Amino acid sequence: MTLSDKRILEVNNILNLDSIAAMKNMESECIDLLVTDPPYETITGGRNNGKNSKRPKGILTENKNLFTHQNIKISDWMPEVFRILKQESHAYIFTNLLNLTEMLNESQKVGFKLHNLLVWEKNNCVCSQYYMKNCEYVLFLRKGKAKWINDIGGSKTVHQFNNIIGNKTHPTEKPVELLKFYIANSSNEGDIVFDPFCGTGSTLVAAKELNRQYLGYEIDKEYFDIGIQRVKQ
Ligand SMILES: C[S@@+](CC[C@H](N)C(=O)[O-])C[C@H]1O[C@@H](n2cnc3c(N)ncnc32)[C@H](O)[C@@H]1O
Repeated sequence: MTLSDKRILEVNNILNLDSIAAMKNMESECIDLLVTDPPYETITGGRNNGKNSKRPKGILTENKNLFTHQNIKISDWMPEVFRILKQESHAYIFTNLLNLTEMLNESQKVGFKLHNLLVWEKNNCVCSQYYMKNCEYVLFLRKGKAKWINDIGGSKTVHQFNNIIGNKTHPTEKPVELLKFYIANSSNEGDIVFDPFCGTGSTLVAAKELNRQYLGYEIDKEYFDIGIQRVKQ
């Protein structure tokens, strides 16, 4: 598919494209809500893993790439997602602790304002000598004037949703129910929900189940194929 393909802007679709290039062809302010779990470097633990290390067994210490297209620069896509979002709209961006500072700095550099730092508390945890990790972070951002969430007074900053254990369609697959929680709070039926790094399409499945329109890009053909299957089901 070429970048001049008109389908780049066609909603209710997942496209097998490099979103950084594709977004440049999108009109400004055409998207109602961004929900994305972007690729970023995964660095786990420190360098001291020698024979005499006191580190408990099972703690990862190397850079572990979970999927092929992982190490892209946050500054390469943040300006584009800001540009294509409508005024008075929300953005939810997943991040881990090590990328949190850069993710927040880059988002604020392009004009996003931080509404809140959300915590997804999972039912599984990763070994660590600095407290076991059982959560992930989500930057809850806004473009333009502040807009309230739909469930005012009912939604808390720390929320519990079961992680997917076992049969995952993607190594970093996010639970559809968690994504529906964010989408329900920050959009209305018919709105366009966008995920430029959609993996196997979890955000788009969630959007569809809530009668939102959806658009996703995924560069990896294998994940794209699974995503298409999931949203068409
Ligand atoms: C963290 S994963 C998202 C997984 C997703 N949350 C799910 O539930 O399936 C990020 C995805 O972005 C994709 N990706 C990386 N660079 C990309 C690019 N330039 N354009 C489109 N997709 C890209 C990767 O292949 C990966 O599948």
